Amino acid sequence: MKEAPYFVEKVLWVKHWTDRLFSFAITRPASFRFRSGEFVMIGLPPREELGEKKPILRAYSIGSPSFAEELEFFSIKVPDGPLTSRLQLIQEGDEILLGKKPTGTLVLDAVRPGKRLFLFGTGTGLAPWLSVARDPDAYSRFERVIVAHGVREVKELAYRDLFTQEIFDDPLVGDEARAQLTYYPTVTREAFERQGRFTDLITSGKLFQDLGIEGDRFDPENDRAMLCGSMAMIKDTAALLEAQGLKEGSNAEPGDFVIERAFVG
Ligand code: A2P
Repeated sequence: MKEAPYFVEKVLWVKHWTDRLFSFAITRPASFRFRSGEFVMIGLPPREELGEKKPILRAYSIGSPSFAEELEFFSIKVPDGPLTSRLQLIQEGDEILLGKKPTGTLVLDAVRPGKRLFLFGTGTGLAPWLSVARDPDAYSRFERVIVAHGVREVKELAYRDLFTQEIFDDPLVGDEARAQLTYYPTVTREAFERQGRFTDLITSGKLFQDLGIEGDRFDPENDRAMLCGSMAMIKDTAALLEAQGLKEGSNAEPGDFVIERAFVG
C-alpha cells in the first residue's frame, strides 16, 4: 500500500485576532522534523458527504520553533478562500492534514554569518519570525535580532504581546531576547507610534535611526535580512537591499538576505 502523503493531526487551540486573522496549533507527529522558518502544506480532509474527493491544501509557514511540541500557524481568513473560508471555523479536536515535507529558504542556514538579523514581515508574513525569533540559534548566530512587522491597521499587529512581553519570560530564549531582540512594528493606514512602509523607512534612513544604528543604510558586512510578505513588498524591499549591496541567498548558496512570499490560504 502507498504511504499516506499527509499526517492527520488534531487542533489543540484556535485564537482569533480580528475578523481577518487567526492562529491555531495542531499536534506534532513524532517523526515530523523541520528547521525554524520553514513552511509546510496544511489542509482539511475532503467532505465526502459533499462529494469532495481530494483535500484542499495550502502552504503555511510554521510559527513554532523546530523543537516545539506543537505546530502553530498564523493565517488570514479569506471569505471565499477555498481553504481559509473553512479553516477559520476549526475548533479544538478537529482534524487537520499536515504535509510530510516541510521546506523553505527563510532559515538561518541560508544566510551568511553577520551581526544583525532583520526579519521583515508584512501581514501574515510575520509567521516565520514566530519560529526564527523563538529559536536560540538566532541569538547565538547574531548579536541583534530585529522583528519588523508591517500592517495596515493597529489591530493587525497580532503577536504584539509575544514580542513585547511573553518572549522575555520564555525559559529557553527569554534572557537572549531581552538582550538581543528588538520588536519593530509599523502601521500604514492609521495613526500609530510608528508609521510607513518598510521601503520608506529604509529609504529615509528612519529604520536605522529608530534602531540606534549608525549610518543610514544597510551594511553588507554585518547586516542580514529575511523578507516575507506580498510579492510587491518582497520585490520592492529586495531591490532596496540589493541597491545597498546585500546579495540574495538560498539553501544551496547562503547569502545576505532570503525571501519568501507569504502564502494566502
Ligand atoms: P500600505 O498600507 O501602504 O499598502 P497587505 O495587507 O496589502 O499585504 O499590506 C500589509 C502591509 O504591507 C501594509 O502596511 C502595506 O502598506 C505594506 N505594503 C504593501 N505593499 C508594499 C510594498 N510594495 N512595499 C512595502 N510595503 C508594502
